Amino acid sequence: MADERVTIPALLEMKRSGKKIAMITAYDYPTARIADSAGADVVLVGDSAGNVVMGYESTIPVTMAEMLHHTKAVKRGVKRALLVADMPFMSFQVSTEETIRNAGIFIKEGGAAAVKIEGAGPARCAAVRALCEAGISVMGHIGLTPQSIHQLGELKVQGSAADDAVRLVEAAEALASAGVFCIVVEVVPREVAAVVTSRVKVPVIGIGAGPDCDGQVLVFHDLCGLNGPGAAKPKHVKEYVDGYDVLETAVRSYIDEVRSTAFPTDANSFHLKADDRRAFLEQRGPKPRA
Ligand code: KIV
Repeated sequence: MADERVTIPALLEMKRSGKKIAMITAYDYPTARIADSAGADVVLVGDSAGNVVMGYESTIPVTMAEMLHHTKAVKRGVKRALLVADMPFMSFQVSTEETIRNAGIFIKEGGAAAVKIEGAGPARCAAVRALCEAGISVMGHIGLTPQSIHQLGELKVQGSAADDAVRLVEAAEALASAGVFCIVVEVVPREVAAVVTSRVKVPVIGIGAGPDCDGQVLVFHDLCGLNGPGAAKPKHVKEYVDGYDVLETAVRSYIDEVRSTAFPTDANSFHLKADDRRAFLEQRGPKPRA
């Protein structure tokens, strides 16, 4: 049924049956409600919150407290989609104990069904195994991993040389063997994403990875055009509406109407009942000027 909650087994079944998975990020109650009522299968509380709603230059400064705050708000707006919380930089690198404790916070306090972690090296795969052992479902993330910005130098296409492309496929296989239920593949050549998708049994969700993945993810503010003038518009993003312009026009109209007294009108006002009005005016009605 269309209204049934999306589960991890349901996503695996979507991959098996070739039904595309639609995932979108959300950061607060209204964006979560929009994503969910529009029919998203997965809602990700991405640490892209750092860029698009907190105004940081990267995702590096994002904290557990900030991500938990956003996850709780999104949880209240999601009724059907599977809710995944992104683990911020340094919340899953220090030790297995800390990784499990932090992931557990997103599940217990945030209400997420799963967490996402970036990377696929041996330490990441060990973390995935430990989380799965603890009963916490994990989404992997390979290709362009924005938390590695200082190592990468810039946010650019990953896996474009043959050897790097092979390493990406191996990374996906390692994550799948470690137990992830799904893998995000970000900004890699279409041909590489297609091979990754065919090589692992878990769903592969692409962003800037071409149409051959099992599903797609976009950042809410990117697809709704909310980033405003001067913001970068990467090639892989499709802006479905210039939301910034729509909202700015609405706010301009409000300001103009306040200044011209066109708003509010009597239709936006409340009134006393007749008896109270009379009694009130008798006691405190306007006095003639002296
Ligand atoms: O933080 C984020 O929004 C993400 C998606 C782009 C996958 O990681």
